[in-house]
Amino acid sequence: MEPRNQTSTSEFILLGLSEYLEQETLLFALFLCNVVVAMGNLLIILAISSDSHLHTPMYLFLANLSLVDFGLTTNTVHKMLVNIQNKSKSISYSCCLTQKYFFHFFSIIDSVLIAVMAYDKFVAICHPLHYTTIMSPCLCGLLASDLWVFSYSISITHILLMVHLVFCGNKKIAHYFCDLTPLLRLSCTDTSVNKIFVLIVAGMVIATPFICILAFYVHLIVTIVKLPSAGGRKKAFSTCSSHLSVVALLYGTTIGVYMCPSSVCTAVKEKASSVMHTLVTPMLNPFIYSLRNRDLKRALRDLISKKVISSS
Ligand SMILES: *[C@@H]1O[C@H](CO)[C@@H](O)[C@H](O)[C@H]1NC(C)=O
Repeated sequence: MEPRNQTSTSEFILLGLSEYLEQETLLFALFLCNVVVAMGNLLIILAISSDSHLHTPMYLFLANLSLVDFGLTTNTVHKMLVNIQNKSKSISYSCCLTQKYFFHFFSIIDSVLIAVMAYDKFVAICHPLHYTTIMSPCLCGLLASDLWVFSYSISITHILLMVHLVFCGNKKIAHYFCDLTPLLRLSCTDTSVNKIFVLIVAGMVIATPFICILAFYVHLIVTIVKLPSAGGRKKAFSTCSSHLSVVALLYGTTIGVYMCPSSVCTAVKEKASSVMHTLVTPMLNPFIYSLRNRDLKRALRDLISKKVISSS
């Protein structure tokens, strides 16, 4: 049993998205919807794993992406739901670090996986004859497992660098989950090592994938425009359109939000970018992929009818 004053020093206050209780009720309903739609991601994983026609690199990566999106949403939403329900804003230090760890873990995979999916599209359209040799199950398995291990090591380093920081005085996090920047701002010890590490990681997991995606798509578009038949061009464009919308959503909002001058929107900026990243995109991904994709829709229908038959 820890003495009372000990507990209070090991807690943070999450100020959340809104300061008003009326809005909190609305937020509660919205977050609940978020969780329900996030379940759509689990349905996609089930549909892909139960249909052997969909065991191709593209769908397996999509299943990985769905898992990551599900993780991103539930990691941030569940604590907000619990806090709104209990009318409390506190989060324990260990809970905060756990949330931060999973946030890094899933966002790093998210960002790099989208570049890997762009590479998959690039090979499929620019080197169709060599597709099966280049995107072999072995390479894909290696890419996916390396990515999870890579993300694990970066996230754990983030946490290890965080553990030695001392927090005194103000414990109010001006955010709705334990994110990196708001936490670093609260520390009363030197955070320069953390900030350097953040820059290095941002270069590795945001800038590099973004540049790769740009390069793949420039190459892709040049190839598509040169295709002889109009039908072929249309088919090739529609193949990449859903992936391109995910890229635009993820990087477009991040870049758009950061272009906003800081005199106008510092606090809003941070929250808006996080809301897009943790709540909106993970919710849209299942729709973007499944509504436009006949094979995935069929697999989902099969999955649901199988469930109905087995339960009746
Ligand atoms: C992630 O992708 C790899 C390689 O394509 C695949 O083997 C694995 O089953 C996928 N994981 C999930 C959860 O879909």
